[in-house]
Amino acid sequence: EVWNPNGKYRVVSTKPMPGTRWINLLIDQDCRVEICTQKKTILSIEDIIALIGDKCDGVIGQLTEDWGETLFSALSRAGGKAFSNMAVGYNNVDVNAANKYGVAVGNTPGVLTETTAELAASLSLAAARRIVEADEFMRAGLYDGWLPNLFVGNLLKGQTVGVIGAGPYGEFLKANGEKPVTWRRAASMDEVLQQADVISLHPVLDKTTYHLVNKERLALMKKEAILINCSRGPVVDEVALVEHLKQNPMFRVGLDVFEDEPYMKPGLADMKNAVVVPHIASASKWTREGMASLAALNVLGKIKGYPLWGDPNR
Ligand code: DGY
Repeated sequence: EVWNPNGKYRVVSTKPMPGTRWINLLIDQDCRVEICTQKKTILSIEDIIALIGDKCDGVIGQLTEDWGETLFSALSRAGGKAFSNMAVGYNNVDVNAANKYGVAVGNTPGVLTETTAELAASLSLAAARRIVEADEFMRAGLYDGWLPNLFVGNLLKGQTVGVIGAGPYGEFLKANGEKPVTWRRAASMDEVLQQADVISLHPVLDKTTYHLVNKERLALMKKEAILINCSRGPVVDEVALVEHLKQNPMFRVGLDVFEDEPYMKPGLADMKNAVVVPHIASASKWTREGMASLAALNVLGKIKGYPLWGDPNR
């Protein structure tokens, strides 16, 4: 799909993105905007090289793409100056390779915070009150009358929420009547894991946070704790998690992300004490349109010489 075919600067988006504000921002600044409308969800490196072509001033890409040496060298050969990741996380971007090829990198911080916090809160409530199990039960036609013991779960009010990776999520939970304990500010991570009734993971994924939640750390948590992951799948050792869920039926988990995304480790889909959703933490209209606009402004910024949002070199 091509917008403003005679624009001076060629900007490629590897995926359609919500709204038209981001397209208008680019068009207003004399960009030709090309949007890849290929049906397949995850583009290969070859697909992206073909999109970049011989002349490309900037690319807006997605977290499912592996932006390393190959893509940055292709973009630089095409005269590209900027790559904008439409995500706050940039574990899919090799910043050193971008620097090597003189491509500026931006991401989309800020506009996701409340939307992600709301999903973390929704998953906590869904897990605590067994919403998914109860919904399946209703749809299966199994409900034949009120019972005192039917789908009894946990009350979250007044419970302690441990936020790993902090940020503004804790404030959101506090406003909800819960008591956040924040790792780094209030206690050591292991202390937080031991004390918290709900643990919400929000760190960036890097070498230091890979399998941050492993078998040993799961064992530190309360038997009835709820673990929420809206960060990146590999932050949790998912094999150890499945085993822990099997051994501890009162332990619950709400997952937005998976170690081998888009796949789940064997056994996870069978666990009644797991609520699983497909990486939708930032999926509110307001946030996704905001992310798309920031991603467009990042590319424009570089073309026009302004600083980029979230430039890791800044
Ligand atoms: C991000 O931005 O990093 C989220 O995972 C997707 O919105």
